[in-house]
Amino acid sequence: MRPYDAHVLLCRGGDCRKRGSKEVRKALKAELRAAGLNRDVRVDSVDCLGFCKHGPNAVVYGPNGHGGTWYLNLDEDKIAEVVNTHLKGGRPAEHLAADYRPRKGA
Ligand code: FES
Repeated sequence: MRPYDAHVLLCRGGDCRKRGSKEVRKALKAELRAAGLNRDVRVDSVDCLGFCKHGPNAVVYGPNGHGGTWYLNLDEDKIAEVVNTHLKGGRPAEHLAADYRPRKGA
């Protein structure tokens, strides 16, 4: 296999599918092609990411060593920003990324 700059795990589970994950995937692939990133960013579909009521959901690893950034409630309109800011620009699209609560005891 060859290395990728980033990896997107996109949910295709029932709840996310009902809310448009298929269209989100299509938009993501098209936007990656348009940005010339389709060979550098791997996209895989997963059955459930566990936040079903917030879907369509995705988690992005990389580029530049970024750990998992979660994007909940995605739609086709948000994909261009995820691709251009995060996958091309190299920093998470902060206002679209999920908020994290501190862990208990941290
Ligand atoms: S169905 Fe998408 S997070 Fe569960």
